[in-house]
Amino acid sequence: MYNETYKLSNGVTIPKLGLGTWLLDDEQAEKAVCDAVSIGYRHIDTAQAYMNEAGVGRGIHSCGVARDELFITTKVAAEAKTYDAVMHSINESLAKMKLDYIDLLIIHSPQPWQEFREENRYFKENKEVWKAMEDAYTTGKVKAIGLSNFLHDDVENILASCTVKPMVNQILAHVSNSPLELINYCQNKDILVEAYSPIAHGAILDHTEVKIIAEKYGVTAAQLSLRYDIQLGLVVIPKTANPDHMRINAELDFVISDADMETLKNVEAIQNYGEHSFFPVFGDKNKIN
Ligand SMILES: NC(=O)c1ccc[n+]([C@@H]2O[C@H](COP(=O)([O-])OP(=O)(O)OC[C@H]3O[C@@H](n4cnc5c(N)ncnc54)[C@H](OP(=O)(O)O)[C@@H]3O)[C@@H](O)[C@H]2O)c1
Repeated sequence: MYNETYKLSNGVTIPKLGLGTWLLDDEQAEKAVCDAVSIGYRHIDTAQAYMNEAGVGRGIHSCGVARDELFITTKVAAEAKTYDAVMHSINESLAKMKLDYIDLLIIHSPQPWQEFREENRYFKENKEVWKAMEDAYTTGKVKAIGLSNFLHDDVENILASCTVKPMVNQILAHVSNSPLELINYCQNKDILVEAYSPIAHGAILDHTEVKIIAEKYGVTAAQLSLRYDIQLGLVVIPKTANPDHMRINAELDFVISDADMETLKNVEAIQNYGEHSFFPVFGDKNKIN
Protein backbone atom coordinates (compact mmCIF):
# COMPACT_ATOMS: atom_id res chain seq x y z
CA MET A 1 0.00 0.00 0.00
CA TYR A 2 2.87 2.36 0.72
CA ASN A 3 3.33 3.40 -2.91
CA GLU A 4 -0.34 3.58 -3.89
CA THR A 5 -1.60 7.09 -4.51
CA TYR A 6 -4.57 9.17 -5.65
CA LYS A 7 -4.36 12.44 -7.57
CA LEU A 8 -6.08 15.48 -6.11
CA SER A 9 -8.06 17.77 -8.45
CA ASN A 10 -5.08 20.15 -8.64
CA GLY A 11 -2.71 17.36 -9.72
CA VAL A 12 -1.01 16.85 -6.35
CA THR A 13 -0.30 13.20 -5.50
CA ILE A 14 -1.50 11.87 -2.13
CA PRO A 15 -0.69 8.43 -0.67
CA LYS A 16 -3.82 6.32 -0.12
CA LEU A 17 -2.54 5.27 3.31
CA GLY A 18 -1.53 7.72 6.04
CA LEU A 19 -0.72 7.53 9.72
CA GLY A 20 -3.26 9.10 12.09
CA THR A 21 -1.80 10.78 15.18
CA TRP A 22 -4.82 11.84 17.25
CA LEU A 23 -4.29 11.29 21.01
CA LEU A 24 -0.52 10.88 20.67
CA ASP A 25 1.51 13.40 22.65
CA ASP A 26 4.59 15.11 21.19
CA GLU A 27 6.99 12.39 22.28
CA GLN A 28 4.78 9.53 21.08
CA ALA A 29 4.05 11.34 17.82
CA GLU A 30 7.76 11.91 17.10
CA LYS A 31 8.50 8.21 17.60
CA ALA A 32 5.42 7.08 15.67
CA VAL A 33 6.36 9.26 12.69
CA CYS A 34 9.93 7.87 12.67
CA ASP A 35 8.70 4.27 13.01
CA ALA A 36 6.05 4.71 10.34
CA VAL A 37 8.42 6.31 7.85
CA SER A 38 11.04 3.62 8.38
CA ILE A 39 8.33 0.99 7.74
CA GLY A 40 7.31 2.72 4.50
CA TYR A 41 4.59 5.28 5.34
CA ARG A 42 4.93 8.63 3.56
CA HIS A 43 1.72 10.34 4.72
CA ILE A 44 1.10 11.73 8.21
CA ASP A 45 -2.13 13.27 9.52
CA THR A 46 -2.07 15.71 12.42
CA ALA A 47 -4.06 18.78 13.51
CA GLN A 48 -3.60 21.93 15.48
CA ALA A 49 -6.07 20.50 17.98
CA TYR A 50 -3.98 17.37 18.61
CA MET A 51 -1.30 19.47 20.33
CA ASN A 52 1.41 17.27 18.79
CA GLU A 53 2.51 19.25 15.73
CA ALA A 54 5.89 19.93 17.37
CA GLY A 55 6.46 16.19 17.90
CA VAL A 56 5.27 15.37 14.39
CA GLY A 57 7.67 18.03 13.09
CA ARG A 58 10.58 16.54 15.03
CA GLY A 59 9.73 13.13 13.54
CA ILE A 60 9.65 14.61 10.03
CA HIS A 61 13.09 16.17 10.49
CA SER A 62 14.74 13.15 12.11
CA CYS A 63 13.17 10.29 10.13
CA GLY A 64 15.87 10.26 7.47
CA VAL A 65 13.55 10.68 4.48
CA ALA A 66 13.59 13.90 2.46
CA ARG A 67 10.81 16.39 3.15
CA ASP A 68 9.59 16.32 -0.46
CA GLU A 69 9.00 12.57 -0.23
CA LEU A 70 6.58 13.05 2.68
CA PHE A 71 2.95 14.16 2.62
CA ILE A 72 1.96 16.13 5.71
CA THR A 73 -1.61 17.08 6.55
CA THR A 74 -2.66 19.39 9.34
CA LYS A 75 -5.95 21.02 10.24
CA VAL A 76 -6.97 24.54 11.13
CA ALA A 77 -8.66 24.58 14.54
CA ALA A 78 -12.44 24.29 14.39
CA GLU A 79 -12.72 27.46 16.45
CA ALA A 80 -10.77 29.62 13.97
CA LYS A 81 -13.60 31.27 12.05
CA THR A 82 -12.07 34.57 10.88
CA TYR A 83 -9.52 35.30 8.16
CA ASP A 84 -6.90 36.45 10.69
CA ALA A 85 -7.46 33.49 13.02
CA VAL A 86 -6.89 31.08 10.12
CA MET A 87 -3.72 32.85 8.94
CA HIS A 88 -2.44 32.81 12.51
CA SER A 89 -3.25 29.09 12.76
CA ILE A 90 -1.41 28.27 9.52
CA ASN A 91 1.68 30.23 10.57
CA GLU A 92 1.62 28.56 13.97
CA SER A 93 1.42 25.07 12.41
CA LEU A 94 4.34 25.86 10.08
CA ALA A 95 6.40 27.21 13.00
CA LYS A 96 5.61 24.27 15.31
CA MET A 97 6.53 21.70 12.66
CA LYS A 98 9.43 23.87 11.42
CA LEU A 99 8.20 23.46 7.84
CA ASP A 100 8.24 25.77 4.81
CA TYR A 101 4.99 24.35 3.50
CA ILE A 102 2.16 21.97 4.40
CA ASP A 103 1.06 19.41 1.81
CA LEU A 104 -2.62 19.45 2.75
CA LEU A 105 -4.37 21.91 5.04
CA ILE A 106 -7.98 21.27 5.99
CA ILE A 107 -10.65 23.04 8.04
CA HIS A 108 -11.16 20.70 10.99
CA SER A 109 -14.89 21.28 11.27
CA PRO A 110 -17.56 23.57 9.80
CA GLN A 111 -18.56 24.58 13.33
CA PRO A 112 -16.56 25.09 16.53
CA TRP A 113 -16.61 21.80 18.46
CA GLN A 114 -18.92 23.22 21.15
CA GLU A 115 -21.56 23.74 18.46
CA PHE A 116 -20.84 20.67 16.32
CA ARG A 117 -23.92 19.72 14.23
CA GLU A 118 -26.02 22.36 15.99
CA GLU A 119 -28.25 24.99 14.41
CA ASN A 120 -25.72 27.70 13.58
CA ARG A 121 -24.05 26.46 10.40
CA TYR A 122 -21.35 29.13 10.17
CA PHE A 123 -21.91 29.46 6.40
CA LYS A 124 -20.79 33.12 6.30
CA GLU A 125 -17.78 32.54 8.54
CA ASN A 126 -16.64 29.50 6.55
CA LYS A 127 -16.55 31.58 3.36
CA GLU A 128 -14.10 33.91 5.12
CA VAL A 129 -12.12 30.93 6.42
CA TRP A 130 -11.96 29.55 2.89
CA LYS A 131 -10.63 32.88 1.55
CA ALA A 132 -7.69 32.57 3.98
CA MET A 133 -7.16 28.95 2.89
CA GLU A 134 -7.13 30.08 -0.76
CA ASP A 135 -4.60 32.82 0.00
CA ALA A 136 -2.33 30.35 1.83
CA TYR A 137 -2.62 28.09 -1.22
CA THR A 138 -1.84 30.74 -3.81
CA THR A 139 1.15 32.02 -1.81
CA GLY A 140 2.59 28.49 -1.62
CA LYS A 141 2.31 27.92 2.14
CA VAL A 142 0.16 24.89 1.41
CA LYS A 143 0.06 22.60 -1.63
CA ALA A 144 -3.58 21.58 -1.30
CA ILE A 145 -6.62 22.70 0.72
CA GLY A 146 -9.68 20.92 1.92
CA LEU A 147 -12.43 20.33 4.43
CA SER A 148 -13.28 17.97 7.24
CA ASN A 149 -16.62 17.01 8.75
CA PHE A 150 -18.38 19.09 6.09
CA LEU A 151 -21.88 17.86 5.21
CA HIS A 152 -23.46 18.25 1.76
CA ASP A 153 -24.73 21.82 2.33
CA ASP A 154 -21.50 22.88 4.08
CA VAL A 155 -19.59 21.83 0.95
CA GLU A 156 -22.17 23.54 -1.32
CA ASN A 157 -21.65 26.75 0.66
CA ILE A 158 -17.93 26.73 -0.16
CA LEU A 159 -18.40 25.67 -3.80
CA ALA A 160 -20.90 28.49 -4.35
CA SER A 161 -18.28 31.24 -4.00
CA CYS A 162 -14.78 29.74 -4.00
CA THR A 163 -12.08 30.52 -6.54
CA VAL A 164 -10.10 27.38 -5.59
CA LYS A 165 -12.24 24.26 -5.10
CA PRO A 166 -11.67 22.11 -1.99
CA MET A 167 -9.56 19.09 -2.88
CA VAL A 168 -10.61 16.79 -0.02
CA ASN A 169 -13.27 16.23 2.61
CA GLN A 170 -12.07 14.17 5.59
CA ILE A 171 -15.03 12.45 7.27
CA LEU A 172 -15.91 9.59 9.62
CA ALA A 173 -16.15 6.53 7.37
CA HIS A 174 -15.76 2.91 8.39
CA VAL A 175 -17.54 -0.39 7.98
CA SER A 176 -21.05 -0.03 9.47
CA ASN A 177 -20.92 3.76 9.28
CA SER A 178 -20.05 5.02 5.83
CA PRO A 179 -22.09 8.01 4.63
CA LEU A 180 -22.40 6.80 1.05
CA GLU A 181 -24.49 9.72 -0.22
CA LEU A 182 -21.98 12.27 1.05
CA ILE A 183 -19.10 10.20 -0.33
CA ASN A 184 -20.76 10.00 -3.77
CA TYR A 185 -21.59 13.70 -3.74
CA CYS A 186 -17.98 14.68 -2.96
CA GLN A 187 -16.51 12.24 -5.46
CA ASN A 188 -18.83 13.58 -8.18
CA LYS A 189 -17.49 17.07 -7.41
CA ASP A 190 -13.91 15.77 -7.76
CA ILE A 191 -13.35 16.11 -4.01
CA LEU A 192 -11.32 13.18 -2.67
CA VAL A 193 -12.83 11.71 0.50
CA GLU A 194 -10.54 10.75 3.36
CA ALA A 195 -11.82 8.26 5.94
CA TYR A 196 -10.98 9.14 9.51
CA SER A 197 -11.34 6.58 12.29
CA PRO A 198 -11.25 3.93 9.52
CA ILE A 199 -11.20 1.13 12.10
CA ALA A 200 -13.94 2.81 14.13
CA HIS A 201 -11.48 4.12 16.71
CA GLY A 202 -10.79 0.46 17.53
CA ALA A 203 -14.45 -0.56 17.94
CA ILE A 204 -14.55 -2.54 14.68
CA LEU A 205 -12.17 -5.08 16.25
CA ASP A 206 -15.04 -6.41 18.41
CA HIS A 207 -17.71 -6.47 15.69
CA THR A 208 -18.81 -10.11 15.38
CA GLU A 209 -20.12 -9.96 11.80
CA VAL A 210 -17.03 -8.10 10.59
CA LYS A 211 -14.73 -10.58 12.31
CA ILE A 212 -16.47 -13.49 10.55
CA ILE A 213 -16.04 -11.89 7.11
CA ALA A 214 -12.41 -10.99 7.91
CA GLU A 215 -11.68 -14.64 8.77
CA LYS A 216 -12.96 -15.65 5.33
CA TYR A 217 -10.23 -13.49 3.73
CA GLY A 218 -7.59 -14.55 6.27
CA VAL A 219 -7.18 -10.96 7.51
CA THR A 220 -7.95 -9.04 10.71
CA ALA A 221 -11.06 -6.91 11.23
CA ALA A 222 -8.79 -3.84 11.05
CA GLN A 223 -7.43 -4.86 7.64
CA LEU A 224 -10.93 -5.66 6.33
CA SER A 225 -12.20 -2.27 7.47
CA LEU A 226 -9.27 -0.45 5.85
CA ARG A 227 -9.62 -2.39 2.59
CA TYR A 228 -13.36 -1.61 2.55
CA ASP A 229 -12.62 2.13 2.62
CA ILE A 230 -9.95 1.79 -0.07
CA GLN A 231 -12.47 -0.01 -2.31
CA LEU A 232 -14.87 2.91 -1.79
CA GLY A 233 -12.10 5.12 -3.23
CA LEU A 234 -11.14 6.73 0.09
CA VAL A 235 -7.84 7.65 1.73
CA VAL A 236 -7.35 5.83 5.07
CA ILE A 237 -5.45 7.25 8.04
CA PRO A 238 -5.45 4.58 10.77
CA LYS A 239 -3.89 5.72 14.02
CA THR A 240 -1.41 3.55 15.83
CA ALA A 241 1.85 3.98 17.69
CA ASN A 242 2.51 0.25 17.47
CA PRO A 243 4.93 -0.66 14.62
CA ASP A 244 3.36 -4.13 14.26
CA HIS A 245 -0.05 -2.54 13.73
CA MET A 246 1.50 -0.06 11.27
CA ARG A 247 2.77 -2.98 9.17
CA ILE A 248 -0.49 -4.96 9.39
CA ASN A 249 -2.52 -1.88 8.42
CA ALA A 250 -0.53 -1.60 5.18
CA GLU A 251 -1.04 -5.26 4.21
CA LEU A 252 -4.19 -4.74 2.18
CA ASP A 253 -3.31 -6.79 -0.88
CA PHE A 254 -6.64 -8.61 -1.14
CA VAL A 255 -9.97 -7.81 -2.78
CA ILE A 256 -13.33 -7.80 -1.01
CA SER A 257 -16.01 -9.26 -3.29
CA ASP A 258 -18.90 -7.04 -4.45
CA ALA A 259 -21.30 -9.15 -2.39
CA ASP A 260 -19.23 -8.74 0.77
CA MET A 261 -18.87 -4.99 0.12
CA GLU A 262 -22.69 -4.78 0.09
CA THR A 263 -22.90 -6.81 3.29
CA LEU A 264 -20.30 -4.59 4.96
CA LYS A 265 -22.22 -1.44 3.98
CA ASN A 266 -25.19 -2.80 5.87
CA VAL A 267 -23.76 -4.52 8.95
CA GLU A 268 -25.06 -3.43 12.32
CA ALA A 269 -23.89 0.12 13.03
CA ILE A 270 -21.41 0.70 15.81
CA GLN A 271 -23.01 2.95 18.43
CA ASN A 272 -20.27 2.92 21.02
CA TYR A 273 -16.78 4.23 20.41
CA GLY A 274 -15.54 3.23 23.83
CA GLU A 275 -13.97 5.62 26.30
CA HIS A 276 -13.74 8.35 23.64
CA SER A 277 -17.44 8.28 22.71
CA PHE A 278 -17.91 11.73 24.24
CA PHE A 279 -15.92 13.45 21.47
CA PRO A 280 -18.17 15.50 19.15
CA VAL A 281 -17.06 13.51 16.08
CA PHE A 282 -18.67 10.41 17.60
CA GLY A 283 -21.47 12.38 19.27
CA ASP A 284 -24.19 11.94 16.69
CA LYS A 285 -24.02 8.17 17.11
CA ASN A 286 -24.28 8.42 20.86
CA LYS A 287 -27.35 10.61 20.68
CA ILE A 288 -29.12 7.66 19.03
CA ASN A 289 -28.56 5.54 22.16
N1 LIG B 1 -10.98 15.18 11.02
C1 LIG B 1 -11.45 14.75 12.16
O1 LIG B 1 -12.35 15.34 12.79
C2 LIG B 1 -10.88 13.48 12.74
C3 LIG B 1 -11.56 12.82 13.78
C4 LIG B 1 -11.03 11.62 14.26
C5 LIG B 1 -9.85 11.13 13.73
N2 LIG B 1 -9.18 11.82 12.75
C6 LIG B 1 -7.89 11.32 12.18
O2 LIG B 1 -8.06 9.94 11.84
C7 LIG B 1 -7.07 9.17 12.54
C8 LIG B 1 -7.60 7.78 12.83
O3 LIG B 1 -8.77 7.83 13.62
P1 LIG B 1 -8.81 7.34 15.13
O4 LIG B 1 -7.55 7.64 15.78
O5 LIG B 1 -10.06 7.91 15.69
O6 LIG B 1 -9.11 5.79 15.07
P2 LIG B 1 -8.72 4.50 14.19
O7 LIG B 1 -7.52 4.72 13.39
O8 LIG B 1 -9.97 4.07 13.53
O9 LIG B 1 -8.42 3.46 15.37
C9 LIG B 1 -7.34 3.64 16.25
C10 LIG B 1 -7.37 2.54 17.30
O10 LIG B 1 -7.23 1.27 16.67
C11 LIG B 1 -6.08 0.59 17.21
N3 LIG B 1 -5.42 -0.09 16.11
C12 LIG B 1 -4.83 0.45 15.01
N4 LIG B 1 -4.39 -0.49 14.18
C13 LIG B 1 -4.68 -1.68 14.76
C14 LIG B 1 -4.47 -3.03 14.39
N5 LIG B 1 -3.87 -3.36 13.24
N6 LIG B 1 -4.88 -4.01 15.24
C15 LIG B 1 -5.48 -3.70 16.40
N7 LIG B 1 -5.72 -2.44 16.81
C16 LIG B 1 -5.33 -1.42 15.99
C17 LIG B 1 -5.23 1.67 17.84
O11 LIG B 1 -4.53 1.15 18.94
P3 LIG B 1 -2.92 0.99 18.97
O12 LIG B 1 -2.38 2.41 19.02
O13 LIG B 1 -2.69 0.18 20.16
O14 LIG B 1 -2.54 0.30 17.70
C18 LIG B 1 -6.27 2.67 18.30
O15 LIG B 1 -6.79 2.29 19.55
C19 LIG B 1 -6.78 10.02 13.78
O16 LIG B 1 -5.62 9.62 14.44
C20 LIG B 1 -6.73 11.38 13.17
O17 LIG B 1 -5.48 11.57 12.52
C21 LIG B 1 -9.70 12.98 12.24
